[in-house]
Amino acid sequence: MSHSPAPRESWGTRIGLIFAAAGNAVGIGNLLRFPGQAATHGGGAFMIPYVVSLLLFGLPMMWVAWTVGRLGGRWGHGTIPGIFDRMTGGKPWAKYAGVIGVALPMVFIIYYAYIEAWCLAYSWFSLKGTYVGDGQHVVDLAVFLDEFLGMAPTHNYFSGIGVALLFFLVTLVLNVWILYRGISGGIELLAKIAIPLLLLFCLVLGVRVLTLGTIKSSVLDGLNFLWNPDFKALLDFDVWLAAAGQIFFTLSIGFGSLEVFGSYLKEHDDIALTGLTTASVNEFVEVIFGSMIAIPAAAVYFGVERVPEIASAGTYAIGMVSMPEILRGIGGVHLFGSLWFLLLFFAAFTSSVAIGQVVMSFLQDEARLSRASSAGIVGAFWLLGAFPVVFLYKYGALDEMDFWSGTIGLVVFAIFEIVIFAWIWGIDRGWKELHKGADITVPGFFKPIMKWVTPPLLVVIFVTWFMGAILSDSLVPRPSLHFGIEGRAEIHGSFSHHAPGEGDPEYADFQRVEEHLRQVIDDAGHDLRGWLQVTIHPAAPVAISGFAGDPALLERVRPAELQRWLQLQHLSWEPPPGEPAHSLQVTIAFEGRYRKTAIWITRVTMLAFLFTFGLMTWAIWRRRAAEAAGGAA
Ligand code: PHE
Repeated sequence: MSHSPAPRESWGTRIGLIFAAAGNAVGIGNLLRFPGQAATHGGGAFMIPYVVSLLLFGLPMMWVAWTVGRLGGRWGHGTIPGIFDRMTGGKPWAKYAGVIGVALPMVFIIYYAYIEAWCLAYSWFSLKGTYVGDGQHVVDLAVFLDEFLGMAPTHNYFSGIGVALLFFLVTLVLNVWILYRGISGGIELLAKIAIPLLLLFCLVLGVRVLTLGTIKSSVLDGLNFLWNPDFKALLDFDVWLAAAGQIFFTLSIGFGSLEVFGSYLKEHDDIALTGLTTASVNEFVEVIFGSMIAIPAAAVYFGVERVPEIASAGTYAIGMVSMPEILRGIGGVHLFGSLWFLLLFFAAFTSSVAIGQVVMSFLQDEARLSRASSAGIVGAFWLLGAFPVVFLYKYGALDEMDFWSGTIGLVVFAIFEIVIFAWIWGIDRGWKELHKGADITVPGFFKPIMKWVTPPLLVVIFVTWFMGAILSDSLVPRPSLHFGIEGRAEIHGSFSHHAPGEGDPEYADFQRVEEHLRQVIDDAGHDLRGWLQVTIHPAAPVAISGFAGDPALLERVRPAELQRWLQLQHLSWEPPPGEPAHSLQVTIAFEGRYRKTAIWITRVTMLAFLFTFGLMTWAIWRRRAAEAAGGAA
């Protein structure tokens, strides 16, 4: 018995497809990740490798993805297992390699949507003025974010991760609802509303930032920081890797998501121009708005020389800590803060449904499930997978997923894709396929690039990332060390700390102290907490006067050691302006986290997805083979 599959969905209109494709590519990558990456990699130093990466594998992979996807759609497959199977003429390894193209988006969407949920939460906080504080009490935004996510050892602004969880659930329901509504009635409709709004918000915020004038630096200093090319950086391999990673992430390359979008096109629908348009809109939003809002604002408000340091506090520090601080400082945070975070949320929302559609399409095309059942299953997987991300966030679960899916996984997938496209399916056939029904001709030099340049380049990137992880020992989870000020919300003035970096004379000393603390936690095999009574004075190093905590900690760590640890990080306190310097008694919460268990739970979760989709692929193809044999007999 063979049933004819239900007709596949398709896009409503050409313009709707363009909006949806732009919505797919434009996301957290453009407005949060890009400014963070550019600022930590020296601004102008970042842009040359960035543009080179765009040309050598960004654009080529963009066209490959649309071509592969439209081909797949013609065969009734929206996802990679089925597409690779057909493109290789049924080589068994190919469909299993293609399973990466389903498991990876499943993992990716889980943590991506968590960040999306933060943006939604922050637009709510902005609207309500939660982090605005009053003349007396300044809300410390770095601590605010850490406590919101359960990363901080203290509870000044949040008593737990309940609020984050709530916003995550809302985000999840919204996403599953759009997926349930389908391609033209869900994803396309959402994009047609969200993309114009997003551009409008970008304009409003862009104008607000450009008219900030000069506070510590001028807007021009901020723009210069990014747009003054620094040719020395061409020798720094790390900058190249960061730029390459950003191109992947922002263009949605190597996730199987553009392919799914392409699969809902007809054989003679243009893809050459569609691919170029997707990349152009994405780059426009990224290099214009992504660089015109957060970085110049940070430069104006904090001074341009502080921008790299601010960004080095984390990928999202500029967007999620500095931006609210700036908007709060210049006034109008209720309006502009809400707009900023709503902008991020819309950008993320149109991307997360595009990632979710990969799994939807796999369940619909291959497992032949209805749209409603598929949406239900995607939602259930999502909820299960979110357990480590939300509850084990403080152990680094999100970063772990980001490393495997958002860094390593997508390069592996891209290597398979380009090799199958250019070498197995054949570049000549591929090039012809790309131009079928095309509204433009892709410049001929991209053809040899696709065959000879992109594949080896991707292999180099993969090997370096993987070797880097092995060499830096980050595959073996080590304990992490945290501290926080108790009663922070009640203390006036501001705290700062700054750990010595490589090259600092104190770096070796700092490493030695941290290594010992980590060893103690590793030996204990679980988290260790402590409370330190300290005296802190603007002009003197911190001094510890009391120490309580876990017996395993008290036994092996002397107060002097923790005191040294805090001093090496230059923990200091400034009274609010106008208040004379005096000393302050505070309690510091210390937490050493044993991360092994949590990280392994996260890894097992990811493997479970890989295994589940692999098993499904195996069962589906077996049944099909049996059906085909039955039909032939
Ligand atoms: N490109 C999106 C961003 O910049 C992320 C994304 C990746 C979306 C893969 C869909 C698929 O945030």
